[in-house]
Amino acid sequence: MSTMTTQNINDGEEIDYLELDQMIEKEFDGEKENLIMILQAIQRRYNYLPKATLLYVSEKLEIPYSKIYEVSTFYSTFSLEPRGKNIVSICLGTACHVRGGERVREQIENTLDIKDGETTADKRYTLESVRCIGCCSLGPVIKINEDMHGRIKPDEIETVLNQYE
Ligand code: FES
Repeated sequence: MSTMTTQNINDGEEIDYLELDQMIEKEFDGEKENLIMILQAIQRRYNYLPKATLLYVSEKLEIPYSKIYEVSTFYSTFSLEPRGKNIVSICLGTACHVRGGERVREQIENTLDIKDGETTADKRYTLESVRCIGCCSLGPVIKINEDMHGRIKPDEIETVLNQYE
């Protein structure tokens, strides 16, 4: 039996299979029914769903990989691409749009030198546009990880982003 419990994947990221195995067994009783919660836990751990972890879950829970892939792509909260340490969501819903959301998005893109949907080269930030995050009266709104920033102005973007380095 191999003693290797980790494996390098994209960009030098390591999958800790021992940890993954224990998580599936201890937190989720190794049950197929807990697939979505297992995927959520993997995403919390790696910030996305590395393919190697999905293959492992497939084998461990005896669920076809095609089924796991289908679930992973069905829910927009899951990402199959590596994402940055900080997820910057810019709301482009109607209320935020009319209050200048597009200018805020452009400012974020210029400041981070990435486009919507991309991740900075240093993997610190991923920018994602979203449609309404439920704080319309505070528009334009950005959300960084779990923090809301309302009535944000383009000239405040750099200072706010710097809080998340
Ligand atoms: S439209 Fe932006 S929070 Fe609702």
